[in-house]
Amino acid sequence: MSFLTEFLRSPLTVGAVAPSSSGLARVAVAPVPRAADAVVVELGAGTGAFTGPIQQRLGGRGRHVVIEINERFAQRLARRCPAVEVVVADAADLGAVLVDRGIGRADVIVSGLPWAAFAPDHQRDVLAAATEALAADGVFTTFAYVHARWAPPARRLHRALESRFDEVVTGRTVWANLPPALVYHCRRPVPAALQLV
Ligand SMILES: C[S@@+](CC[C@H](N)C(=O)[O-])C[C@H]1O[C@@H](n2cnc3c(N)ncnc32)[C@H](O)[C@@H]1O
Repeated sequence: MSFLTEFLRSPLTVGAVAPSSSGLARVAVAPVPRAADAVVVELGAGTGAFTGPIQQRLGGRGRHVVIEINERFAQRLARRCPAVEVVVADAADLGAVLVDRGIGRADVIVSGLPWAAFAPDHQRDVLAAATEALAADGVFTTFAYVHARWAPPARRLHRALESRFDEVVTGRTVWANLPPALVYHCRRPVPAALQLV
């Protein structure tokens, strides 16, 4: 089972032909604290491009919950990374997953989700679940492919992030990724009543 095989089986759900590079992973997981008992949630882990680097930064501390909709990816990750709590679920169900595990809020949420493939309603539900699950001083990161950055789905995502977070910082382009990508670092989730879209 490879990333490409899964892409060919379900191109829209997997959303990329290759896993993210180590360079993109470094930027996406940078907010994971190296010296604290943090709760880290990873959405859409695939073959684990971000999972290993998150585990390295946690260094055996805290908790690391993965929500992955593809059962084959999830089983493989659970076998390879026994310290990670791998759940087969839709990222939109993040709230229920955390309740089941007795977790109040996440300190860091790292998304590898294929936003461009999501219908507007699904994107809204997943982002709502993520902002509700994030601690007030937490960080949410997600990436976008540079070539598609100005296409309507990517612009919709960026608008939604700007509405749901008080601060959205766009990272530098990671050229050593196929295709080149950048990471949005989002801080201070905005209460639902104050969101613009
Ligand atoms: C573009 S791949 C990224 C994989 C990995 N994070 C990386 O960067 O290489 C997207 C991943 O999100 C998963 N996924 C897609 N929709 C999802 C959803 N609604 N909930 C959870 N996972 C989802 C796919 O199965 C796939 O593993």
